[in-house]
Amino acid sequence: MQDGNQMNETTNTRPRSFKIIGTGSCVPEKVVTNEDLTVFLDTSDEWIRSRSGIEQRHICTTETTSDLAIGAARNALENAHTTPDEIDMILCATISGEYVCPSMAALVQRSLGAQCPCVDLSAACTGWIYLMDTASAFFARGGIRKMLLIGAESMSRILNWHDRSTAVLFGDGAGAVVLEPGDNYLASSFVTEGNDEVIAIPTKNGISPWYLNEQKLPLVHMDGQETYKFAVSNLPKRVDEVLQKAGLQEEDLDWVIPHQANKRIIDSASRRMKHVPADHFCVNLQKYGNTSAASIPLLLDEWNRAGRFKENDLLVMVAFGGGLSSAACLVRW
Ligand code: ACO
Repeated sequence: MQDGNQMNETTNTRPRSFKIIGTGSCVPEKVVTNEDLTVFLDTSDEWIRSRSGIEQRHICTTETTSDLAIGAARNALENAHTTPDEIDMILCATISGEYVCPSMAALVQRSLGAQCPCVDLSAACTGWIYLMDTASAFFARGGIRKMLLIGAESMSRILNWHDRSTAVLFGDGAGAVVLEPGDNYLASSFVTEGNDEVIAIPTKNGISPWYLNEQKLPLVHMDGQETYKFAVSNLPKRVDEVLQKAGLQEEDLDWVIPHQANKRIIDSASRRMKHVPADHFCVNLQKYGNTSAASIPLLLDEWNRAGRFKENDLLVMVAFGGGLSSAACLVRW
């Protein structure tokens, strides 16, 4: 990695951000259908499908979150024809890693045999957009040849499997991209409304003999209806903002890559964004459920490998979730 200041002195025509040159993904082997959940939860396939669009999810048995992250990273490197020694930084978004320390990114680095700085970001389902923006800032500073970004989650580790209102919605998986310098990251928009009543995932209880406060279970707590309202109103707003910042119109969009939480939320956004054909809203949540920070890179990999994105296509990635947070970014393929 070169020193950023050195780069500033040598060139003023260097790329301002990045271009995506490869994608990868990895999910655990075990598939759990809605029907499987009815064995121990008071729920039904019909309820889950009609309220969320989810039909099944992949759930870890022996795999760890870092196994998924490493699998996605390897696939992305292969897809980008990149070797680990070319990677100058690894960024990972996760809220469900097996360690608070070391970072997920550091575990990936060790497994790949890369030698570069590594850090994790935590912004729940919006984490992926923060990764993209952070990566863009590093590329703008200069001195980075290639960067590896990973969104990886094992939500099954932090779900309350006795709570039917949350357990049926999530799944495990990881997605990754490799970036090189380019001008393809066009704009971003971020909003946080600090709130731990609507969505909260407390950390593990400590064993301090002096601590007196009530300790909440270190599992997902979510008010579904409030989250739903937040998502439906924020998703189109963030898309409008990034289009405005880039001086573009809804008509210019080729693909909308929304966070995969609920098909009804995506359909509601689609109804509001009349200039984007409904089938250009990418959806795969029926297979994976909500994989939090992994959901957007999982979609990117699926659409990329299916050859659906064409060079120069305009993509908007948009997410919402814990924080409460919402964000969008605009990328040229
Ligand atoms: N099976 C059967 N019935 C259920 C289930 C279930 N799995 N879960 C809840 N119900 C019941 C409720 O108890 C309620 O029953 P009642 O009327 O007798 O009280 C009824 O179904 C309706 O519940 P609602 O909460 O009103 O259902 P709604 O239509 O709002 O759908 C859902 C719930 C799917 C959770 C929806 O609100 C939603 O998708 N919210 C957004 C979640 C989200 O996007 N999260 C992303 C962020 S997560 C993160 O950042 C970590």
